[in-house]
Amino acid sequence: MNPMAKRVSRFGTTIFTEMTALANEYQAVNLGQGVPDFPTPPFLRQAAANAIEAGINQYAPGNGRSRLRTALADKMARVYGLSVDPDKEIIVMQGATEAIFATIMGLIDPGDEVIVLEPCYDSYVPSIIMAGGIPRYYTLRPPDWAIKRERLATLFTPRTRLILLNTPHNPTGKLFGHEELTIVAELCQQHDVIAVVDEVYEHIVFDGRSHLPLATLPGMANRTVTISSLGKTFNATGWKVGWAIAAPEITQAIFRAHQFITFCGAAPLQEAAAAALSVADEYYTELREMYQRKRDMLVQILTDAGIRPFTPQGTYFIMADISQFGFADDISFCRYLTTEIGVAAIPPGSFYHNPADGAHFARFAFCKTDAALEEAAKRLQKLPH
Ligand SMILES: Cc1ncc(COP(=O)(O)O)c(C=O)c1O
Repeated sequence: MNPMAKRVSRFGTTIFTEMTALANEYQAVNLGQGVPDFPTPPFLRQAAANAIEAGINQYAPGNGRSRLRTALADKMARVYGLSVDPDKEIIVMQGATEAIFATIMGLIDPGDEVIVLEPCYDSYVPSIIMAGGIPRYYTLRPPDWAIKRERLATLFTPRTRLILLNTPHNPTGKLFGHEELTIVAELCQQHDVIAVVDEVYEHIVFDGRSHLPLATLPGMANRTVTISSLGKTFNATGWKVGWAIAAPEITQAIFRAHQFITFCGAAPLQEAAAAALSVADEYYTELREMYQRKRDMLVQILTDAGIRPFTPQGTYFIMADISQFGFADDISFCRYLTTEIGVAAIPPGSFYHNPADGAHFARFAFCKTDAALEEAAKRLQKLPH
């Protein structure tokens, strides 16, 4: 008997599982998965412990604890000048991953088309497929990973319901600016399409740049679902506290799906997340400065090792060109790097619908201690170049 449904049988397991196992087996410095290897801030851990001790241990409301929704609305107003109704326009979910899934399940019908900018976070396409949707791909190309109007425009059809994008962008490190987001905004309005924007790296941006939410562009507040989460900003990826922010009628549609996926997330962690979002803005400044320093450090390390990095504008990832090493593809390079050099990276082919588009790249994460980055530097010197 083959117990597996056709719906999931084409997905396979994620490349993270394989590369993490290989990194552990070879005791490689793991610059693969985007999991910080330094501790979650003490004030956040304490806030979670306090919430549990205070007896916040039963189901949260389906749309999230009110203190967190209020803190989110305050933050959106303070940081981005966006006015959000905490009762009608926010749903707290189990991480951005659930928010993406519930949004797609709530907004598309089988046969509807969803434009996806690739390479992309690996849950997007399976979420579309599980909802019966048809992904239409816009492939971002180096060195600038730009959105070009003519190329994007050809993907819009009468069946297009959503466009799904991510900024700052994993894995390329691209931060979409005003000009490129204006292209998306205009095409969405022209074709009556909703934009779903994954902004989980919103606070990790470099060189004095700022993240620009698509929802702030003219005409977009009512046709954008803004998704983010606590994990990257507060170094708490295991908490899986995320949210979707959208106009009331869109929020209601997402809620219909969310109520039967998880119904609600972990109540004490939502309470602690509210405390996190009330931190002073210096927290965000320090976070940016720390990651800017680590970015500069890893760009230098890779360059010294003969790997050609595309310097990221945001996120804690670096895409690098590995074509000069002459490997058949990204997977064979990353296996070699892990087993022979002792440094793990992610082969990004699985972030494309055609893995060959990622065959010349490797993705390195710098959400790591300086000691780990220094050790990686030492080991990478063994790379022939
Ligand atoms: C672009 C992107 N979106 C979403 C997520 C997952 O977010 P969460 O842990 O809140 O589900 C990740 C994690 O790597 C990511 O890189």
